[in-house]
Amino acid sequence: PAIQDLVGQHWVITAGPTMEAIDPVRYISNHSSGKMGYALAAAAQARGAKVTLVSGPTNLDAPQGVQRLAIKSAEDMLAACRDAMATPADVFIGAAAVADFRMKDIAAQKMKKTGDSDEMQLTLVKNPDVIATLSQENAAKCMVGFAAETQDVIAYAKSKLQRKGLDLIIANDVSRTDIGFNNDENQVTVLSKDQQWTPPKEAKAALAVELVELITQYQSTQS
Ligand code: PMT
Repeated sequence: PAIQDLVGQHWVITAGPTMEAIDPVRYISNHSSGKMGYALAAAAQARGAKVTLVSGPTNLDAPQGVQRLAIKSAEDMLAACRDAMATPADVFIGAAAVADFRMKDIAAQKMKKTGDSDEMQLTLVKNPDVIATLSQENAAKCMVGFAAETQDVIAYAKSKLQRKGLDLIIANDVSRTDIGFNNDENQVTVLSKDQQWTPPKEAKAALAVELVELITQYQSTQS
């Protein structure tokens, strides 16, 4: 068993996709499986942290000893995170792939094909940015985001670190098919405003253990 050095800490971790309803039978979502966020939750729990896992729809069981709040939409995720952070958080990690947009109006009835048109348009509106909102209104001592990018990975990740008011950002090249979304392995670069770490490509469970260690070390240099 791991050393219980995170006893007394509260970690709030988001995982999985969000699901934005179009009508009663359809939705907008993405390929996140939840594996990365669940692995982080398990790794923090193993060191004794109280972990709240705010999860979009996944096929995964909640890791043992972790409290899971199951949500669907980005708006639900923000509400659940606010609830979770009523118990002040030491660390927040946004591993979820939050949909950036939702339907302006969810159709009350199943939308019908119309006979005379081969096209249809949906009007979308921006979702709240969960992590950026939390870092402004009730930040954890250490705010950690992910950045899923398909090009200029490090540069875009750095700009998200700043824009979203984060302490650390974990850059994930999701153009690669051997890592990232739904894979069992991942490779990332962790960035603070002036430092950078690149753990090896490995199973998400092993990587999560290293990331929890890295975050814990970073915390200790800040306080
Ligand atoms: O779930 P898996 O299949 O294991 O895959 C893992 C992963 C690839 C989903 C994960 O490692 C990852 O990269 N998660 C972030 C995905 C993402 O949507 O990144 P982003 O660059 O769009 O968002 C940047 C950060 O802002 C993230 O911490 C995200 O959770 C957060 N965000 C984004 C939009 C939004 N409206 N609210 C947010 O909080």
